Amino acid sequence: MVKVVICGAAGGIGQPLSLLLKQSDLISHLALYDVVNAAGVAADLSHINTKSKVTGHGKESMDEALKNAHTVVIPAGVPRKPGMTRDDLFKINAGIVRDLAEGVVRNCPNAFVLVISNPVNSTVPIVCEVFKKHGIFNPKRVFGISTLDVVRSSRFVSEVNPKIDPATRVTVVGGHSGVTIVPLLSKLPHGFVDSLSKEQLDALTHRIQYGGDEVVKAKDGAGSATLSMAYAGARFTLALLDAVIGGKQGLIESTYVNLDADPQATASFKEKTGLEYFAQDVEFGPEGVSRILPLPTVSAYEQTLLDNAFPELKANISKGVSFITESA
Ligand code: NAI
Repeated sequence: MVKVVICGAAGGIGQPLSLLLKQSDLISHLALYDVVNAAGVAADLSHINTKSKVTGHGKESMDEALKNAHTVVIPAGVPRKPGMTRDDLFKINAGIVRDLAEGVVRNCPNAFVLVISNPVNSTVPIVCEVFKKHGIFNPKRVFGISTLDVVRSSRFVSEVNPKIDPATRVTVVGGHSGVTIVPLLSKLPHGFVDSLSKEQLDALTHRIQYGGDEVVKAKDGAGSATLSMAYAGARFTLALLDAVIGGKQGLIESTYVNLDADPQATASFKEKTGLEYFAQDVEFGPEGVSRILPLPTVSAYEQTLLDNAFPELKANISKGVSFITESA
């Protein structure tokens, strides 16, 4: 049983994510940190009769919240409004994520860190660079949560072809924004891709890559995906905990990681693409990343998607890296 901290716990994602994690018997202490209203959310959740203790920590108590944490989940920051890309959030969220990473360094340097705050393609490199600066970087322990892309893919695919169970996991690689989201639909059963016309495949791929925009538009200025994201974040966090402390084997999720988490498996990919970070299927183990699965053979269609993803991903990564390395 372990201490899990949610940073940004009073937000649109933070609240339902905290509720979902409150239901887990793997967690003994749920520490809720936010710059507003953490105490209220904590008091509310603390009445639920599951095993974990819940504490709330406001603006001045970041260190207290993070002290000796086992796992830190970060949905802190601002969400998108209509017309914004995830990269537009960089200006505000980069600093928030950097400061939280500094808090991890001071209080729980061995924690598993799960980043939800966008732009994930850049915020994960920010966390890793802060950790490198302080000599505590372990690439097996830092994750960008791109699970919502997988959840959406599974759902949308099952809507196109009802023979496919919505629980079927789709491998989604690349990153977590627009063209960097690359769903490998050719791996699906029942000849799924072959049953689609080029127009249908284009439409489905576009819907997966820009599914977040549907929610931003429907919420009309009130934010982006929160409930489906909380579901995805809880699924990811609990799978990781199941492997790390529950000892479960064979648990796999697509996630955006530093490729040094499994240097042997990724050496030739890194050399070919020049990418340091990539979302790929990862198997969890006691150390976090147990192995990064090899990139499956992709179709010509998917190769084009990958070719379009690489330059944007590279730019997003270097933006995150230089935010730390070029600051005083
Ligand atoms: P929100 O605005 O509803 O909640 C964010 C919370 O973070 C607020 O309660 C705010 O007080 C708090 N916060 C702000 N600065 C903080 C700081 N320095 N320390 C601690 N807490 C702080 O936003 P929402 O909808 O919950 O989204 C949060 C983030 O998650 C956004 O960056 C959004 O883009 C991202 N997101 C990521 C997804 C993914 O798939 N990885 C999907 C959807 C959203």
